Amino acid sequence: MPFDLNNKVAIVTGAAFGIGEAMAARLASDGAKVLVADIDLDGAKETATQIANSGGIAQALKVNVQNREECAAMVDRAVELWGRLDIQVSNAGIVDREPFLEMGDELFDRVLKTNFYGTFYCGQYAARQMVSQGDGGRIVHTASNSGVFGGRGRAAYGASKAAIINLTQTMAIELAEHNILVNAVAPGATKTRAVSGDVPSPKVLDRMPLQRYGQPSEIAAVAAFLCSDECSFTTGHVYCADGGYTVAGVMDG
Ligand SMILES: NC(=O)c1ccc[n+]([C@@H]2O[C@H](COP(=O)([O-])OP(=O)(O)OC[C@H]3O[C@@H](n4cnc5c(N)ncnc54)[C@H](O)[C@@H]3O)[C@@H](O)[C@H]2O)c1
Repeated sequence: MPFDLNNKVAIVTGAAFGIGEAMAARLASDGAKVLVADIDLDGAKETATQIANSGGIAQALKVNVQNREECAAMVDRAVELWGRLDIQVSNAGIVDREPFLEMGDELFDRVLKTNFYGTFYCGQYAARQMVSQGDGGRIVHTASNSGVFGGRGRAAYGASKAAIINLTQTMAIELAEHNILVNAVAPGATKTRAVSGDVPSPKVLDRMPLQRYGQPSEIAAVAAFLCSDECSFTTGHVYCADGGYTVAGVMDG
């Protein structure tokens, strides 16, 4: 079911590949003009071209979300192109893992800077723009079920996603008076280049009622709802789009 995003201007970060690419395509097919923002400019251009070939409106922009100034310039670019900003999807992320006992500052800083600081910077500049416009907006974060549970090798990644979940809640509270609704989608195992194999590992399947990888388009569908005016009384929420993983307990026996 499409959501009506006509006349909306959206930014999607990490939109060159995977879940972000699917989110950008979905928002564009629902009517939004989309700034496809990614550190990989060639990939971002490819996403924007595919959107244009499907009849949508998109522009590519190179952005490193670790950098505050580049996040500010990204919001400025959307406004320069299309006059306003209605939707910010902060999805860019990296999933590097290392055992806790061996984890050093380099990986820890890189993961936190990309996933958490990037979400903070993008959200702050997007929200400032939306507040100045005075008619609300939607901000969506890509969290993870690794931010809901602990997980092996995820001292940085899991913490970054847990921090995003709390940031979602805090932003929802502080931005409610401006009618800016802030929610997160927390994917489970989703078939992108970030995961290997055609099916999740047996350990994951043991706890997953739907017993398969999610597709990026299935995560994008949740994001499209959260970006739409149909989402009007939900803020600060985390939608686990994970095949039932986070709610499963003992599945048999
Ligand atoms: N695939 C999964 O199973 C899964 C599960 C839970 C959460 N997630 C989250 O979903 C999001 C997308 O992951 P994906 O699986 O599509 O991975 P992906 O690697 O296919 O896509 C990530 C995108 O982010 C971009 N990116 C990386 N660092 C960046 C930076 N510093 N600035 C701007 N862009 C940057 C990459 O170029 C890429 O286009 C991430 O936040 C990830 O943590 C993925």
